[in-house]
Amino acid sequence: MKCVGIVGIGTCLPSNVVANRDLEEIMETTDEWIRSRTGIEERRIASDDIDTSDMAIVAAKNALLNADMDASDIDLILVATATPDYVFPSVACMVQEGLGIPNVPAMDLSAACSGFVYAVVTGKQFIDSNTYKNVLVIGSEKFSKIIDWNDRNTSVLFGDGAGAVILSEVSEGKGILAFEIGADGTGAKHLLVDNKTNFVTMNGREVFKFAVRQMPETSLSVIEKAGLTAEDVDFLVPHQANIRIIDTARARLGLEKDKVSTTVTNHGNTSAASIPLALFSEIENGKIHDGDVIVLVGFGGGLTWGSICLRW
Ligand code: ACO
Repeated sequence: MKCVGIVGIGTCLPSNVVANRDLEEIMETTDEWIRSRTGIEERRIASDDIDTSDMAIVAAKNALLNADMDASDIDLILVATATPDYVFPSVACMVQEGLGIPNVPAMDLSAACSGFVYAVVTGKQFIDSNTYKNVLVIGSEKFSKIIDWNDRNTSVLFGDGAGAVILSEVSEGKGILAFEIGADGTGAKHLLVDNKTNFVTMNGREVFKFAVRQMPETSLSVIEKAGLTAEDVDFLVPHQANIRIIDTARARLGLEKDKVSTTVTNHGNTSAASIPLALFSEIENGKIHDGDVIVLVGFGGGLTWGSICLRW
């Protein structure tokens, strides 16, 4: 089997920062409540004229620059999103037009906050099977458009943004070592977008219980599948939903705090965009080194989960 890895990464964050204090002005909440329950201090909220595809295109262009590739090198576009511009066309088709690469296949993938991991795993299959060489995988969300700003239980949690990676064949021993994806539809009712209101509704406690069980479990499982142990892990990039959930996974893996990404503080929960946004931040911070063993792990609506163990 081929070694498939990330050869380029790029992001897009809207410029508008909304701090917890700003939310205190519009709803009955406090900076202290949000910080202590979630770890979130601020999030980015896109303006009305920016949609999911706009952020996806910017992130994709940045990833191409980072990989030193032309758009014409891409032969498959996958976009993980729960907040597409339209039911159809897909965001992926809009990205294809935005990048000016006619005829390459393009599709969206729906697995809520696990979407990015699902999409990377899907892209890898096409490279493994020699069908495509360079796959553009994007997680992009304008979650703010499905938030009920009158519902303090959900509105304080989410943010907007996009992250993109390019998957290609990499040198022997590097790239994705193992992956796991899973779903439990019996938990679908706990986290969904209501058809009538088009707003997110969530049973926070049930999702919390699921996440603190599933995140460490799937992380340990993928490490084992890679033939490694938790001690071999250099850095954990978990889905950024809640610092208490991240801390539980970190403790189960026995990792020090500086080996785990916690961009939730500044981004909030950006759903399918959170893992590539976090990964990019840690690369920028100099936390990820050549040859490091990294675990990406997500969970979300569905309920779904997914993890990837890779060597950078
Ligand atoms: N400000 C102030 N008070 C609030 C707020 C707020 N923003 N939101 C809720 N409260 C109140 C509640 O009304 C409740 O009051 P009550 O006791 O009088 O009824 C109280 O705070 C405590 O609420 P809890 O639900 O017990 O708070 P908890 O400690 O469970 O934290 C939270 C809530 C943060 C939502 C937590 O349950 C959580 O993080 N769950 C997981 C959510 C998650 O990860 N979602 C993303 C999934 S990914 C995807 O696919 C989209």
